[in-house]
Amino acid sequence: MRKVLVLHGPNLNLLGTREPGVYGKWTLADINEDLVRTGATLGIQVGTFQSNHEGEIVERIQGAHGEGYGAIVINPAAYTHSSVAIRDALAAAGLPFVEVHISNIHAREPFREKSLISDLASGIVAGFGPSGYRLALIGAHDILKSFERGSGEEEI
Ligand code: DQA
Repeated sequence: MRKVLVLHGPNLNLLGTREPGVYGKWTLADINEDLVRTGATLGIQVGTFQSNHEGEIVERIQGAHGEGYGAIVINPAAYTHSSVAIRDALAAAGLPFVEVHISNIHAREPFREKSLISDLASGIVAGFGPSGYRLALIGAHDILKSFERGSGEEEI
């Protein structure tokens, strides 16, 4: 079964109460449940992880391949704009990943416009609110299918 790891960065544990005008009213649990449900309809096993600590996110990225994940969906939150460590971990992991942001980072403060991971991403979703994660998961699914087609496996 295809497996996708969804990683959430700092302060996303506060979703639901954190600046709802910017990030919406869904809690992180709502988002994760939606992803697991959507994954089930796509035939994807979804793993989820949130941390406020950069090193923990790096370690999950490092372990992803060994845990059987074929792709990553990641919202590094504030680390998007600052973390060379997360960028380097994603580059080293060699797994395709989709970058997701709940808000449109290009329509906010100038410091949010720069992402340290976008040039490595297979795709980017931003500004669709919490359901952007679902779009990112669908994108990751399509990427996995196209990889399998490339390797001669049959598409489901
Ligand atoms: C965010 C945007 C970041 O700039 C911010 O630091 C976050 C969340 C988003 O999902 O819109 O924490 O990644």
